[in-house]
Amino acid sequence: MQYQYDVVIVGSGIAGLSFAVKAAEAGQRVAILTKKDRAESNTNYAQGGISAVTSDSDDFELHVQDTLTAGDGLCQEAVVRTIVEEGPERIRELIDLGVAFTQLDDGRVSLHREGGHSKRRILHVKDLTGRAIETALLHAVDTHERIELKEHLHAIDLITNRKLAMNGFDVTVDRLRVMGLYAYNVQTQAVETYSAPVVMLCTGGVGQVYLYSTNPSIATGDGLAMAYRAGAEIRNMECIQFHPTALFTNTEERVLISEAVRGEGATLRNANGEAFMTNYDARGDLAPRDIVARAIDSEMKRSGARHVWLDITQHDADYLQERFPFIDETCRRFGINMADDWIPVVPAMHYLCGGVKTDCNGATDIDGLYACGEVACTGLHGANRLASNSLLEAVVMAHRASQAVESYLKTIKPNGAQLPSWTDGDLQQGDERVVLSHNWDELKRTMWDYVGIVRSSKRLERARTRISTLQREIHDYYWNFKVEPSLLELRNMVEVAALVIEGAMQRRESRGLHYNIDFPRKLPTAVDTITRRKSI
Ligand code: FAD
Ligand code: SIN
Repeated sequence: MQYQYDVVIVGSGIAGLSFAVKAAEAGQRVAILTKKDRAESNTNYAQGGISAVTSDSDDFELHVQDTLTAGDGLCQEAVVRTIVEEGPERIRELIDLGVAFTQLDDGRVSLHREGGHSKRRILHVKDLTGRAIETALLHAVDTHERIELKEHLHAIDLITNRKLAMNGFDVTVDRLRVMGLYAYNVQTQAVETYSAPVVMLCTGGVGQVYLYSTNPSIATGDGLAMAYRAGAEIRNMECIQFHPTALFTNTEERVLISEAVRGEGATLRNANGEAFMTNYDARGDLAPRDIVARAIDSEMKRSGARHVWLDITQHDADYLQERFPFIDETCRRFGINMADDWIPVVPAMHYLCGGVKTDCNGATDIDGLYACGEVACTGLHGANRLASNSLLEAVVMAHRASQAVESYLKTIKPNGAQLPSWTDGDLQQGDERVVLSHNWDELKRTMWDYVGIVRSSKRLERARTRISTLQREIHDYYWNFKVEPSLLELRNMVEVAALVIEGAMQRRESRGLHYNIDFPRKLPTAVDTITRRKSI
């Protein structure tokens, strides 16, 4: 089956949906492919909110400086300024689409405070901000006649002019250019071909590469691996953000306990019940995430405890239920009453600060290929993202990318080319599915144990050896059996794991989220780590 659009978007989180609305308003025919149900995305789980300068006591310069400080020297300052300054206008658009940010009794908008922010500046819908934004954007997409949202379509790989030329097709390859993509239809089990002069990757993060993560199951780094395989530049993959406070359970489940809880005065306590954060940073419990996560890691290693505690018992049950209904309900599910009990918390993988390198309009270095949201690395976050800057980046960049795409489409001739269909000949269904689940487990544990919050050169070397063995096995499996979602995801996850390790080995210093005990100091100049596939 072959489909043709002006723009194909992969992913239906905040980035994909925001971009779709704008591109369709500009007159383009748009398809959104999403691999599960439409709302299933990291966006849907966002709690704390979206940061933007909206109060009289705040200003752009403070938000810029907080972002640069958290980013530890690696942010692109021009990008930071652009995103911060364009934020308020994009927030107004979200409100126009129906996002009802929580208000105070006097009618002013309620603002959360989170780690690294010098002001209260985070707009939120209680602690269910992501769900409110996702719902409003899905409604906007549903009511737009030029947008088709296709669920259960799993993008596999990009089609580029270079790949076609290598396979004997008559195409010009003066510059690397995207021409479309292949996607697996989960319902029909067939691979469909999408032809489009513009592909926008909005596939979100990579949390599933780690054993413990706050991310849902969709976060397998698919868009990132696709871009890498197609030849795009990938930046700062070692900058993996571990959120300090996920609810500790005896299973692998790690539900986020928003930083906004600390913004309302919660204190981290060690196994002896002592508040410890001021021993590590003058900003205490509201220091940036990299510092708090490392402090917790150090306290747990020192005491041998499996978690630390988060104490918000100074507030009563009504207050907590009103402000944090989702977290309150989650805690109750595990037998914890936040108003009386300390909450057991641990750090968990949360966010990828690196990603597919883009300019300030979402363009990658492959013509026609754009990336937006968590999959992209614009330069906003540097070595450590400031809390709640992710949703902000997604809406601002989606707007800017829509303008860039409109201009790009005017410069190219209509594509119209018939692309080759996917062939998997007489390949069989995978016969050793246990190999997949075993490799899946080994990959996640290796990354957690050896490429975690505190790294060493020896551990990274060990991880590299294991991951390259897994890469070979998964590669063989991929080429010998029919594709299916779990195989596609595993193939992408192992690619992403290798990229994280490569970035971590390139960075011979400790900066922001990347801490290596063998290189504990920061080099005088901050330099991006860049990876690009050597041969296509
Ligand atoms: P996502 O929202 O993750 O969407 C990705 C989409 O791509 C999904 O629809 C997925 O199904 C689809 N997809 C992936 N691969 C494929 C494929 N191969 N084919 C087809 N479709 C595919 N940030 C903040 O700024 N503020 C917060 O308060 C906040 N809280 C958070 C709380 C939690 C629990 C988590 C996990 C993250 C939080 N973040 C927060 C981070 C933020 O939510 C994400 O960075 C952001 O939502 C990413 O948006 P996105 O559109 O890039 O990706
Ligand atoms: C949180 O609510 O703590 C998450 C915010 C974020 O990841 O930006």
